[in-house]
Amino acid sequence: MGKSTIARRVIDIMAPNSIVFALDGTGEYRSRFGMQLWTDSVGVNQPGAWVHEPAGVQAQKAAEFIEGAMAQASSEYMTGTRVSRTILLEEAHSFLPEWNFTAARNEGDFVARSCRYILQARKFGLSFVLISQRTAVISKSALSQCESYIVLRTIDETSLQYVEGVLGQGFRDTVASLERFQAVCVGPAFNTSTPVLVNLDHYPMTPVN
Ligand SMILES: Nc1ncnc2c1ncn2[C@@H]1O[C@H](COP(=O)(O)OP(=O)(O)O)[C@@H](O)[C@H]1O
Ligand SMILES: [Mg+2]
Repeated sequence: MGKSTIARRVIDIMAPNSIVFALDGTGEYRSRFGMQLWTDSVGVNQPGAWVHEPAGVQAQKAAEFIEGAMAQASSEYMTGTRVSRTILLEEAHSFLPEWNFTAARNEGDFVARSCRYILQARKFGLSFVLISQRTAVISKSALSQCESYIVLRTIDETSLQYVEGVLGQGFRDTVASLERFQAVCVGPAFNTSTPVLVNLDHYPMTPVN
């Protein structure tokens, strides 16, 4: 609990230095967090933070959106005018489901397409943020590219195994014993060389009365 809230805060932190696109199938980023809606006419060059609520097969829409951002980013790369962009995937398993959790036919092909881009994204200044309750349901190829983590309390065994595999046994125990709205932050995205345990804020940080 608290994933979307911290994700929204991450968007605020990133947006001054990166164009942020949140892909959200829940409607929450617009309705609850008041984010401005992305449309085709906005394109991928306007600074700020945008929420894209694609209709249709989510894995397909994600692949197409990522492809558009990559096309722009790779042309900038050629001309040496790299712009930072971030694509945040809320409920990432909707956009990048692991093969045995795909809903529609061909979804796996779209996920594979997205993952090919994700693998090359860094050199083009494109970052990804994946939000999910469970690691098991997200494409392993996409997960394998993650470098930094904000881990909230979980008792889900496969997620705990994932944490243990990537970060070690000590983390598994810490994560399992976190309190509500606490998280462990680890990785190069954080300006600390050691993992830190944080208490998460509300969003907005000062509750509106
Ligand atoms: N740090 C926090 N302190 C207190 N309440 C919080 C905090 N973060 C989130 N909440 C509340 O908990 C509920 C669930 O948060 P949310 O971010 O939507 O969780 P998730 O996305 O994991 O389902 C919301 O009502 C939210 O306002
Ligand atoms: Mg949520």
